[in-house]
Amino acid sequence: MSATASSPATSASTPSSSRMAAVNEMTRLLRLLFEVEREFLRTVTTLIYRVGEPELKYLICQHAWESAGHARFLRERGRELTGFGTSENVRDSIRRVFVEAVGSASSDALVLTAGFYGVLKPALLAAYRHYLKVTDHLADWPSKKLVEEFIGDEERHLAEIAPFITGIEARAWTLHLTQALDDLGGWLGQETRLPLPAGFVWQQEKTPYAHPLTCNRGKYPVCSSIFGFDPTEDPIVRPWLTDPKTDARVIRLMVYVWLMMEMDAIDYLATVFIETLSAPFDLHHDLARHLWDESRHSQFGFRQLPKLGVDLMTVEQSLELYNILIHMPPHERYAMMTMEFEAGSFPTKAAVMDRVRELNDFEADTLLAFDRNDEQNHVRYGHRWLPEMMALFGETRPVAEFVKATQEKFRELTKAHGNKTPHSLPKEKRLTGEKILRLAGVSA
Ligand SMILES: [Fe+2]
Ligand SMILES: [Fe+2]
Repeated sequence: MSATASSPATSASTPSSSRMAAVNEMTRLLRLLFEVEREFLRTVTTLIYRVGEPELKYLICQHAWESAGHARFLRERGRELTGFGTSENVRDSIRRVFVEAVGSASSDALVLTAGFYGVLKPALLAAYRHYLKVTDHLADWPSKKLVEEFIGDEERHLAEIAPFITGIEARAWTLHLTQALDDLGGWLGQETRLPLPAGFVWQQEKTPYAHPLTCNRGKYPVCSSIFGFDPTEDPIVRPWLTDPKTDARVIRLMVYVWLMMEMDAIDYLATVFIETLSAPFDLHHDLARHLWDESRHSQFGFRQLPKLGVDLMTVEQSLELYNILIHMPPHERYAMMTMEFEAGSFPTKAAVMDRVRELNDFEADTLLAFDRNDEQNHVRYGHRWLPEMMALFGETRPVAEFVKATQEKFRELTKAHGNKTPHSLPKEKRLTGEKILRLAGVSA
C-alpha cells in the first residue's frame, strides 16, 4: 500500500512497475492459479481410463471440465491486468509436480486419485483461500467474485471424490507428493518452503508414464463390441435399429445401451490431453467440454437402463475402440473420433430419434435431442482443432488426405488389435437383443 501513498514528487520518478506493485502481485498469483488449473486438467484426465468405477470416471470428467472453466476465467481476468503475459505455458516447477502425480503404468489408479484429491486439490483450495485473504476486496472485486465461486467448486470436488478414496492406503504416495509440493511452498509459494528431503527421487525420471494398453471397467463384464447382427449374442442388433418393424421400446433400450457405451469415447478421448503438451489452452478447453459431454451421454444410458429393468451387471462393456486407438498417435485418435465415428453417426441416430418419439417418452426425447446437439458441436470442434493437432505432430498432409489415410490405418490396426476381448459372460447371462425383446415386453 505504501506505493500508492507516494507523494507526487516521488511518484513522478517511480517506475510504473513499482507504482503498480499491488496489481502486479495479484496478477502474479492469478497467473500461477491459471497454470495450476491448466496442468491439473492435462494430468488428472489420465485417471479416467485407469479407474474402473463409472461414477468416478463421470466425476473426474466433470471436474476436468470445471477446471477448464476456472482456467479460462482466470486467463480472461488475468489479461485485464498488467503483467499476466500472453503465453499460456505452464512453468516447469508446477508441471513437474503434476506429472509426478500421474504415476506410471504400474501405479494403482485409486492411490493416484488419492494423490490428486488428497494433496494437489486441497493445495489448490488453500491457494484460492490465500488469494482471497491477501487481495483488496473492493479494488480487485472482479477477481474476488471468481475466486469465491472457485472455492465453492473446489470444496465440492473434494467432497464428491472422498467416498472413492476413503480407506485407500495411500500414505506413502501422498507424503511423496506433499514433499514435492512443500518444496514450492504451496502452489503460490505462500507457505514456508521445505527443501526436498535427501534421497527424494522423482518417479517420473525413473519410470515415465505410458498409456495402459486397455482401459479399466472395474467390476463390470466386458467384451470387444456391443454392436452385431446376432440377437442371441449382441445387445445392439444393427439392422433392428433402422428396421421399421422393430418395436420402438426395443429401439429405446438399444439406444440407451449405445449411449451408455459412450464410455468408450470417455476413455480414449481422455488419453489425448497428456500427450498434447504444447496445445493452446483453448484446444484443451474444448476437449474438456467434449469429454464432459460424452460423460453425460454415457450417464443417460447408465441411469435410464436400470429404470427399464436392465441389470447393469449383465451389460458387457466394449473395450474395442480404446484397444485399437491406443496404438495410434493422439491426432489420429482424434481424427477417427470426430471425422469418422461422430460425423458418421447422424443418419442412424436421426432414424432412432424418430422411432423413439412414437413412445411419447419426453425424457428419452430430451436426452436424445441434447445428445444430437452436443454431437454436432463435437464435429465442429473436430474441424476447428484437428488441423492444429496435426500441426503439433508435424503432420503436413491436407486434412482430407490425412483422414482418409487414418481410416485405412484404423482398418489395418483393427485386424491386429480388434476382437481380442472375450465375453466375460456366457450369452445366457448377458444382455442380448433377445433379452431386450423380453424386457421391452415384445415376445421373442
Ligand atoms: Fe456422445
Ligand atoms: Fe461426441
